Amino acid sequence: MKPYYSTDTVTLYNADCRDLLLDLPSQSVDCLLTDPPYGMAFKGDGATAGSIRADGAREGVRMLRQVLTAAGPTLKPDVHAFVFCHWASWPDFTDALSAHLRSKGGLVWWKDRGGVGDCAASFAPNYEMVLHSTGAQRRALLGKRHGAVLSGIAPVPPRRRTHPTEKPVELMAFLLARGCPAGGMVLDPFAGSGSTLVAAQRLGRRAVGVELEERYCEAAARRLEEERRVGPEHAG
Ligand SMILES: C[S@@+](CC[C@H](N)C(=O)[O-])C[C@H]1O[C@@H](n2cnc3c(N)ncnc32)[C@H](O)[C@@H]1O
Repeated sequence: MKPYYSTDTVTLYNADCRDLLLDLPSQSVDCLLTDPPYGMAFKGDGATAGSIRADGAREGVRMLRQVLTAAGPTLKPDVHAFVFCHWASWPDFTDALSAHLRSKGGLVWWKDRGGVGDCAASFAPNYEMVLHSTGAQRRALLGKRHGAVLSGIAPVPPRRRTHPTEKPVELMAFLLARGCPAGGMVLDPFAGSGSTLVAAQRLGRRAVGVELEERYCEAAARRLEEERRVGPEHAG
């Protein structure tokens, strides 16, 4: 399939990842980093308005299972996988991942600010969860050992988002810097606006992303190109 966007190191496809992953070379991926539809029927409001495809109640975990089956052969035996999830989908997502990979733990991205929901009768959801798994072959994480709570990385302000659930590039870079060797290959089957791909480009990792919606491919391609042109300090 013709990529939507490609450079020497980053390739983005506008496709359904369940079809496209079947064409990737086997055992080529060092790090799976992805933020799939959580199955929480995310709608957003204001600047983050817009629903996420395949985000219906049971669809999230079904989609994750299908993707892991399709991606399985592409993963190296010593792969590290980081998969974002919601507290309500954590058990189902853990089960789905455990069928293919070894669970190593859960990380918490502490966002240090509230969120939507029942503001009067629930605690503010000021964090997000990331499940960490590996392949059967052990490979050490890079860098100094870090705690499982990741703090000090601010969410993308709503007015600057190009995707309703856009993750900060710094957060993706933190995970890739530890889970993917220099020059290694990163896969994000739910690329959205390309935060994983921008982080990979910034760190000198190769990356393949897949995104179903063309408008988000367009945003990802724009971000990648802008960063190549002006560098990380000046990119929007
Ligand atoms: C939670 S968002 C990812 C946001 C991304 N992390 C970012 O920073 O912009 C999940 C994305 O998966 C996409 N998606 C849903 N089903 C898909 C499929 N079958 N294949 C590829 N992408 C899909 C949605 O369109 C959405 O953009």
